[in-house]
Amino acid sequence: MFIVVGVTGGIAAYKSVHLVRRLVRAGHDVHVIPTEDSLHFVGLTTWEAISRNPVTTSVHEDVARVRHVSLGRSAELVVVAPATANVLAKMAAGLADDLLGTTLLATTAPVVVAPAMHTEMWRHPATVANVAVLRERGVTVVGPAEGELTGGDSGPGRMSEPDEIADAALAVPGVHDLAGLRVLVSAGGTREPLDPVRYLGNRSSGRQGVAVALAAADRGADVTVVLAHADTDVADRVRRHPRIRVVDVGTAEELQHAMTSASSSAEVIVMAAAVADYRVAEVSAVKMSKKGDAGLTLDLVQNPDILAGLAAARRDGQMVVGFAAETEPDRELLLERGRGKRARKGVDLLVVNEVGWTRGFDRTDNAVVVLGPDGAVVAERQGTKREVADALWDAVVARR
Ligand code: CTP
Repeated sequence: MFIVVGVTGGIAAYKSVHLVRRLVRAGHDVHVIPTEDSLHFVGLTTWEAISRNPVTTSVHEDVARVRHVSLGRSAELVVVAPATANVLAKMAAGLADDLLGTTLLATTAPVVVAPAMHTEMWRHPATVANVAVLRERGVTVVGPAEGELTGGDSGPGRMSEPDEIADAALAVPGVHDLAGLRVLVSAGGTREPLDPVRYLGNRSSGRQGVAVALAAADRGADVTVVLAHADTDVADRVRRHPRIRVVDVGTAEELQHAMTSASSSAEVIVMAAAVADYRVAEVSAVKMSKKGDAGLTLDLVQNPDILAGLAAARRDGQMVVGFAAETEPDRELLLERGRGKRARKGVDLLVVNEVGWTRGFDRTDNAVVVLGPDGAVVAERQGTKREVADALWDAVVARR
């Protein structure tokens, strides 16, 4: 595996020599990117000798081969150890003022960081917020461990041991375990027009579906996202990913058309979109005027159940995964509803998530239970939408 190891300026850099050696011995092609600052602790020669690959800190060397992005593109895994408070802040902000920064922005591989700093810095709200942002983006954080620090003080802040970092990094779900898999995901909420300026919609931000698509693509899958309405910042994240193709749709019928035509080449289909169950029977060609005290009655007709249609038409070896948004607070009743829905829709896996006024929608975290074909719980996850997405792909991998 092509592994990039970023080394930043902390005394723990000396421990990363063992990390690199261990990865090389395990047969991996390891490319070390030290920051300038880290060279005060361990020099270039050591990294070249241990990794058996050329090492540079500069974006201005090897320009012909666009080194500032090529390492990131080739990487199947990126490990930053030690990760100082400074590099965590730079990563959270997306700064790219050195080779490690450009590589981290260019990569779509899983990223693992092993923080090392004094306890006060680790506990500072800025670091806490930066780490939360990175976790939300799918970065795996290993450690830090508790113990004695360089000043003789002790507390959380010591970099984890190199073997622990290597084990955690190599076990990251999705170190390209979906390589080449053709995946089709729907995301966002449909909007059913009433007239040229109004629509019937829902509160979906697109976050969970987009997280499902990004997790699959980061794990090596080739992904098509059929994207109904989503928040702009959320939608931008799938548009930028090199392994994701986006098809924009508006209504449930458009979504059905796009999903059906893309489904023939997909090996796994995930319906995460919030689809309107009804549309108005007749869309007004002009803006409707108010009707006064008589009130307004809309004539609605049912939309097709896209998921059930895809499941019924699936070919051998194709997997269909649905979502169920439920407001039932009682766990057993929630699962009962989920089981009924899974059977009705005929899907392989159903991801049940509880939604409500303050749950599920427009938030970065989520809690789900994944039901298998016999209605058994095959996975359960509470965490960021990205963590939930990875749990879903783990369940897919387990079934395949
Ligand atoms: N879905 C669909 N087509 C629809 C409605 C929903 O494909 N017309 C899909 C959603 O994308 C989701 C799953 O079906 O994957 C379940 O959606 P949900 O809204 O929970 O279920 P409903 O079908 O609306 O069932 P109910 O009204 O009984 O809750």
